[in-house]
Amino acid sequence: MSVTTATDTAAADRAAAGTSSQARLTARHVSKAFWVEGEQDPTIALQNVSLTIDEGEFVCIVGPSGCGKTTFLNLVAGLLPYDEGSIEISGKRVNGPGRDRAVVFQQSRLLPWRTTFDNVLYGMQLHRRFSEAEMQKRAQDYIDLVGLHGSERRHPAQLSGGMQQRVNLARALATDPEILLMDEPFAALDAQTREFMQAELLRIWQEAGKTVMFVTHQIDEAIFLADRVFVFGTRPGRLRAEFEVPFERPRRLSIKRSPEFLALTDQIWSLIEEEASRAGFMQPAPAESRS
Ligand SMILES: Nc1ncnc2c1ncn2[C@@H]1O[C@H](COP(=O)(O)OP(=O)(O)O)[C@@H](O)[C@H]1O
Ligand SMILES: [Mg+2]
Repeated sequence: MSVTTATDTAAADRAAAGTSSQARLTARHVSKAFWVEGEQDPTIALQNVSLTIDEGEFVCIVGPSGCGKTTFLNLVAGLLPYDEGSIEISGKRVNGPGRDRAVVFQQSRLLPWRTTFDNVLYGMQLHRRFSEAEMQKRAQDYIDLVGLHGSERRHPAQLSGGMQQRVNLARALATDPEILLMDEPFAALDAQTREFMQAELLRIWQEAGKTVMFVTHQIDEAIFLADRVFVFGTRPGRLRAEFEVPFERPRRLSIKRSPEFLALTDQIWSLIEEEASRAGFMQPAPAESRS
């Protein structure tokens, strides 16, 4: 696969990241329970989850609501402690947040009083890893990469939802994390913008060469984006299955209409439907009525 349009900064980051052959993320037997005051039993949000994500890989986690997707992402991000097991990023145990990880949430979490440019600077300013001149250059390069050239002086309120998520993405990438964690980042966007952002994210990912863990409940989004899809189940939240996605890259949105894509969607959907009915959310539907 050849990438010809990368900015210097993205290309340099990509080259530097490509030097280790270690798994980027290793989770071993991870469990997490929540105790809620007034409730007899804890909620087992995650039970015995083991998985690895390779350097440069794009992995999606899908599953019905409440299966522990966000909890897992928060454990990896170091925003919550795990009860059992271990999580390592490039061989280093996660013990809280760190600058080796960057998170993009559903809400764009931009500072409303800062411009696009200053919002992208913000993550790097917190980390204090780059010099002032480097920060300026990286901010501009990643703004260009996400397609926001010309909107540097705008404030978040002057940007569409899709543009706000682009700022968020630029901010995360500019910090040069070892892994990018995304939790339903396009869920608040309208359907058309969402599709467009999926294609854009793949383009940006190929240029930036980052390892990505992307959480979504939308199956077609997961398949379109990922090298591998992990399907989580509910009650207790756990890893149910793992699918390799066979489609070549670069991918076009039109592959979503191909028979192979629809067959894989159906396979994952059956599993999720099973999980949702186990959890009492829905009755299983006859196979031919699935869409
Ligand atoms: N802070 C919390 N306190 C108590 N229960 C929680 C908390 N966060 C999540 N849970 C519970 O853990 C389970 C998994 O939640 P979550 O990770 O948000 O699922 P998902 O992102 O897959 O929808 C759910 O049953 C949820 O109610
Ligand atoms: Mg969630």
